[in-house]
Parts: sequence; C-alpha cells; structure tokens
Amino acid sequence: MTESNDNMDVSESQIASHWREEEVIEPKAGFVAQANMSDPAVFDRFGLDNFPEYFREYADLLSWDQDWHTTLDTSNPPFFNWFLGGKLNASYNCVDRHLAEAKNKAAFIWVAEPEDEGDRVITYQELYVRVNEFAALLRDFCGLKAGDRVTLHMPMIPELPVAMLACARLGVVHSQVFGGFSGNACGDRIVDSESHVLITMDSYYRNGKLLDHKVKADEAVAQAEKGGVKVDKVLVWERFPGKYSSPTPMVEGRDYIVDDLLKDFRGKRVDPVSMPAEAPLFLMYTSGTTAKPKGCQHSTGGYLSYVAGTSKYYQDIHPEDVYWCFADIGWITGHSYIVYGPLSVQATSVLYEGVPTFPDPGRPWRIAERLGVNIFHTAPTTIRMLRKSGPDEPQKYDYHFKHMTTVGEPIEPEVWRWYHEVVGKNEAVIVDTWWQTETGGFIGTTLPGLQAMKPGSCGPGALGIYPVILDEDGNEVEPGSGKAGNICISNPWPGFMQTIYGDPDRFVETYFAKYNKNPNSKDWRDWPYMTGDGAMQAADGYFRIVGRIDDVINVAGHRLGTKELESAALTVEAIGEAAAVPAYDELKGRVPEIYVSLKPGYSVDDDIEGQVKRAISQIIGPIARPSHVWVAEDLPKTRSGKIMRRVIAAVSNFMDVGDTTTLANPEVVEEVRLMVQSAKVKAGQVPPNLPKEVQAELMRFGEES
Ligand code: PRX
Repeated sequence: MTESNDNMDVSESQIASHWREEEVIEPKAGFVAQANMSDPAVFDRFGLDNFPEYFREYADLLSWDQDWHTTLDTSNPPFFNWFLGGKLNASYNCVDRHLAEAKNKAAFIWVAEPEDEGDRVITYQELYVRVNEFAALLRDFCGLKAGDRVTLHMPMIPELPVAMLACARLGVVHSQVFGGFSGNACGDRIVDSESHVLITMDSYYRNGKLLDHKVKADEAVAQAEKGGVKVDKVLVWERFPGKYSSPTPMVEGRDYIVDDLLKDFRGKRVDPVSMPAEAPLFLMYTSGTTAKPKGCQHSTGGYLSYVAGTSKYYQDIHPEDVYWCFADIGWITGHSYIVYGPLSVQATSVLYEGVPTFPDPGRPWRIAERLGVNIFHTAPTTIRMLRKSGPDEPQKYDYHFKHMTTVGEPIEPEVWRWYHEVVGKNEAVIVDTWWQTETGGFIGTTLPGLQAMKPGSCGPGALGIYPVILDEDGNEVEPGSGKAGNICISNPWPGFMQTIYGDPDRFVETYFAKYNKNPNSKDWRDWPYMTGDGAMQAADGYFRIVGRIDDVINVAGHRLGTKELESAALTVEAIGEAAAVPAYDELKGRVPEIYVSLKPGYSVDDDIEGQVKRAISQIIGPIARPSHVWVAEDLPKTRSGKIMRRVIAAVSNFMDVGDTTTLANPEVVEEVRLMVQSAKVKAGQVPPNLPKEVQAELMRFGEES
C-alpha cells in the first residue's frame, strides 16, 4: 500500500461530509413469490456459528462422484481447501447430468453481431456431443492430460465454452485470455502458465468489422518463445465453419483448423475424469500492483459449488428462464456467470458476439424482446453507454426483465435509477454484485427475494461472507461511522482463489500480509483477505464500494495495473519516465492517462502521443489505450526520486493537488497543471463536479510511483 494515513484521513472526512443516504427499494411481491430463495431462515443457516458447514448447501447442488470428508481444511493458511476428499467433474456437472431431463433445452443461444445472421442454438445434447468430441481431440491429438495448462484466446463464440468444458472434462486447466487483449499479452500469459497448446479463432465481428484474430496467435507464439515457452500446436476455430476468414496464413505443422481435425473424432465420447475437489479448474489472469499479471487459480469443487449456489440464489436462475449475461467470457464474470454457474443450474444463456450499440442502441432490447430474456446482467459502463446513446430505446420494445445485475464498478445512483426505471420498467429487481477475479463469485450483494435494494450500494456480505472494513492499523471501522477503509473478508469461502499460479509467496504477500498478525497461525480468523478496495458501511450494514486503494485502474470494469501501462509506455525509445493515472470518464468510469518525460535528444514533435498509444494497444490491448499522453519536461517527484502519481492524478481530474512543498521539484506541478488543464479546458474536457467519493479515491491513488 502506498497511501499515507494522512491522506486517508482527509479522504474519510471529505466523504463523510458529503455522504448521502439513498432510498431503499423493496422487491416486487411477484418477484418474491417466485424467488429461489425467499425463506429468511437462510440467514440463520448461514450464521457464523454454522461456519464452514453452511457451504454444504451450495456443494449439495452438484453431483459428486465421491463425498468429501472435510468441509474446510485449514491446516495451511491462507491456502484453504474446501470439500477435501470429494471428487467430481465440472463438465459432467454442467452438461451430462442435465441430459436425462433437458437434453433438448437450449444451453446457449448465440447471437451474431451482424443482425441478419441467424442465431445458433446449442441444446444440452449438442453441447454434450461437441464437448466430448473436442475433449477427445485435446486428449488424443494434443496429448493433453489432467493438470496440463492450455491457453485460450477466443472471442464471444459458443466454441469458447465448448473448449473450456472439454478441458474441464479432462481435468486440463484452461487459461482464457480476453479476446481483445493483444497477442503479446496472450504470449506473456502462455509463458506464465507454461501452455504448449493455444486455442484461438480466425476472426470475429466487432462494431461491424470482421477482425483478424489469427494474427494475434502468431504474435502470441513469438512472444511466448521469447519467454522460453514453445507452443507446439495452435488450434484455430473458424468463424464461418469451412471457410477460413483471416488474411493471416496458417503455419504448416503448427496451426490446425479445428473442424478439419474434428472429422476424426466424430461420435467420440470421453469419460469425465473424476477430479479431486481441490484440483485446479482454470487460471484467470488479472492486473495487480506490479507489471506481471497474476494467474488466479480457481479450484474445481469449491469454485463450482460457489458459482452454482450464487447463480441459483442471487441470479435467481430457474430452468425455464432466459438468462443473458452481457459480459465477455474472457473475464471472470463470464467464467462464473455465463459458463460454470448458469450451466450447473441448467440455464438457457444468451451469448452475444458484439458491441451493445451495434448497429444502434436499441440492439440489446431487440435481442431481449425476440428471445424473451427475463434476467439481464451487465456492467455500469454498458448501462451508461446505452443511457447516453439511447435513453428512450428500452420502452420501444416489449421485453420484461424480472431481474437485472450490475457488476464490475461502482454504479452512480442516477445511472442505477435509469437502469431500474427505464431498462427494468420498474418491474425488475436489481442486484449490484461486488466481487473480483480473485473471489470467484459475488461477495457483496443483496439476496433479491429477501433484501431491499439501495442505489449505489452493493448490499451486505453475500450469504456466508463476512466483510469487515479495517483502517490502516487493522482496527475495525464501525458501520455508520461515515468513514471509509480497506474492505476485507474475514472468513474463507469456497469460491476464493487457491493461489497465484506459480507464485504462492506473492499470493500471501498481496492479499494477507498487511492484516495477518501471526504468519504461523492455523486459525482462519487470523487471515482476513484484503480485497484492495476502499469501502464505507452504512448503519444498515450495506456497503458502498468507493474504488481501488492500490495501483489498479478500473477501466470500464476491467482492471489495468499502472505498472503494466508504464512498462508498455517505456518500450517507446524516446520515453525516459512514465506514470499512469486514472482520469474520470463519464462512460467508462476511469480511463488511463499517461505522463511521460523524454530522454535527451527527443521532442514532442516525434509523435510521442501516437507512439505511446500504439505501444500500449499493441502490448496490452486497445482497452488500455490512454485517453491522453502528456509530455512534460519533468514529473513531480519526492526527494527520493519517486514519481507522485497522486499529484498527477489530481491534475488530470482538476482536483486540489494538496501540499507539494515537500517534493523535490514543486515548481513542476504548476507547469504540468497549466499544460494539462488548459488543454482540457480548450477541448471541453473539464470533468463535471466530481462526486466526493470519486475525488477521495483519486486522492488516495498511488501516492508514489
Ligand atoms: O474495485 C472493485 C470493482 O472491480 C474490481 C474487481 O475487478 P475484476 O477482478 O476485473 O472483476 C470484475 C468483475 C467481478 C473490484 O476490486 N468492482 C467489481 N464489482 C463492483 C466493483 N465496484 C463496485 N461495485 C461493484 N458491484
């Protein structure tokens, strides 16, 4: 942590004096009557007195090959094992076990971005066949076996869940990299996970264009090779089966068209491999405070139990519902709440290939109307975008949601109200689900049939999850005190990651070191999990998440580490120093801005801005592209030479830069401020009155670089 106590105090009092309680809204009686969970006794069952056994209720939703003997093994904290002794297969639980009852039911309805291309409906029976055939290919053609890692770099296409479930069938650990990430970013993750097989796609549609995706596989393989990992096989799915649609040639002896290979596996069946509950199911990389992304490793039994339970009770999915989680499977939201959770409760899920506003902002509502979607799940950034570009569109379409989710970033109360009144037509409940890549599933939210909604607050801890807000010294911040602090989870739960792949020390250091007082303790109570978020708790127990407390920028619900951005900027020859900070953005929440100083002999005229933007898009991906690159003579620094990101963030966001007298070069602050703010004023980019909690987050942000 880099923020100082002084800073935190300022932030807390700022927030406290501007804190406004929002109204509380009860769910409609019609929703409650049909809810999967409407029995208030559930809160007693999930009371801490019953910890950890209460999580049996989630595990019992699955089919186990062998029962567990120990619900929670705490012998090696903070590496907790759930359902020890139990055995199961995730693919069996998501597919096979539904066949007897529902083989003709749609598991997925895939909607292509081009509106005139027909949907593809995949029934549970077809999913079963395709998963088996692809699993046979992975096993017999690629030689993969339980425990091996495979990297997937796929867009939103039904072949992605097919590939994930085929891996799971074999006990192979998949590591899906978000399709929008660059080939280089994919290559780094191949190295970290030591994958020798890459599964990808030739192309996909995004905003009306058929993008070449295969080109990224070539970059990824080259990048992996630099890192010392050789990819032996690249499996390429075709966007239009039978018609290779990429200008990038296939590499003889390395690249294979999946549908060609599958001809040899038609009709093949693969017995699901019975895996220990604690066997890893997948890796999901996420940004942290260093340049190297963390491979969050999730378990088979604990993870699957947790996402099944939360899908049933929080997403309120019944088999007859049509559920649409409008997120990308390449993020944790898609893994937990498009693939593993919904399939384990026999859902019908809509998958959509493209962008929300293509070809116009009525698109999501047309899809909802046509397919009878009644559960809708998306992120504030999408809601803001749809609100801005088509505020009156929802009422033109005859769809009815019973339930809507928001996830990924704090939602502004006025945006929440538009979601509720206009998108939800005042009929739907909203669950604001606060969680993370690390947590596997929801950790702060409302049980929709039992707990009221409050705009802008996620709610209390999810069932069985006991969050606590701690100050810098580890003291509890009382609910209703009006003070913010570091929100932690005081108890283990089955959905939580097992470790950072290949780096257990970093796992302990990142998430537990700050608040663990006794590293030898075997008592789980001594190991609160530090989420990295700042939060406040109202007197009624509801949490309001105010943003990251570490050097992570949440851009449109996607996490980017400042160090990752800075390292990418530093690959440009001219750049001497770089600092990345978050700037407020009306639609995306935050966007990165990069401040650089140049090496001698270079000048702004060398298209520094273009070079840095291109480098970042190339190295990380277009989502990381900064909105501005500011070139300064020098950057504000402490006497020990550290760049003061906090000061720069204040400049970008038109906030008070605070006391700069202790800096090594205080005069630079004013120069930088004048340059940046006058340019923004000219361009009409002055942020609106920033909410105080946003200001506080930006004030706390990465004190030093
Ligand atoms: O800061 C919190 C924010 O997103 C971070 C986690 O990002 P990621 O691991 O990419 O997972 C996103 C999808 C679960 C958190 O540390 N965040 C997530 N959900 C919310 C949120 N902030 C406020 N409210 C939420 N509902």
